[in-house]
Amino acid sequence: MDTTRVDPTTSPPAQSREQRWLLQARGAGKSFGGTRALIDAAVSIAPGESVAITGPSGSGKSTLLHVLAGILPAEHGGVFLRRGDGSGSDNLVALSDAARSAIRLRRFGFVFQQGLLLPELTATENVALPLLLAGASRAVANTRAVAELQRLGLAGLEARRIGQLSGGQAQRVAIARALVADPSVIFADEPTGALDSHTAEEVLEVLLATGPDAHRALLIVTHDAQVASRCDRVIRLRDGRIEGAA
Ligand SMILES: Nc1ncnc2c1ncn2[C@@H]1O[C@H](COP(=O)(O)OP(=O)(O)OP(=O)(O)O)[C@@H](O)[C@H]1O
Ligand SMILES: [Mg+2]
Repeated sequence: MDTTRVDPTTSPPAQSREQRWLLQARGAGKSFGGTRALIDAAVSIAPGESVAITGPSGSGKSTLLHVLAGILPAEHGGVFLRRGDGSGSDNLVALSDAARSAIRLRRFGFVFQQGLLLPELTATENVALPLLLAGASRAVANTRAVAELQRLGLAGLEARRIGQLSGGQAQRVAIARALVADPSVIFADEPTGALDSHTAEEVLEVLLATGPDAHRALLIVTHDAQVASRCDRVIRLRDGRIEGAA
């Protein structure tokens, strides 16, 4: 008897990443003037994955991240996001600016190297912002922001302004802000690039521990081979093309 055979009536066949995708680029391209920053990119991101995007400076890493996030509209091809209710997918390229912004607000979280936090606001106010923009009351937004900050190890620092935090603490606030609305994809562009190596390691731990989830994927642009090696998968870019792609 073949004991390795899976009984199809009790075990559905394992789905490949191509079938389970949450976010998918198909033939996506973007040029700046004469520079072809991204050429014919095909990428499938599944929920639960952490994916590193690496490559030399100028190879198109940030362009790929911004195209996948709908920040830069692809000029060729499409970028598809599965709907949260499983009713199909939306092509970010084909949506109106307003619809694309709404999706970014509800489904995506962002952690950049620096500059995304508002220095005149407190940690709590920064983290509450995406919830307020999505229509939550201030009381609800603040409660959830404080809970998220505490989950990321920032208890006691909730009322500090960003300028009164260390670089590592500020990046944790940025991660809390990216996570607070429970997004489907976290996009991080060189999230530890401005930190010393010890702090960078700590922040990476937090990001890897809190980012990917049963229903969420994490994409990290990084120059750092150590960071890439900690992710489930690596996408390498060279001159705007994904290496190894057909
Ligand atoms: N706004 C822009 N205007 C003109 N050219 C741009 C613009 N943004 C990117 N480029 C060009 O597109 C190419 C890819 O840039 P991109 O920022 O994606 O690279 P990168 O891999 O993120 O580099 P780095 O590691 O230095 O951040 C580069 O040749 C860059 O000069
Ligand atoms: Mg870049």
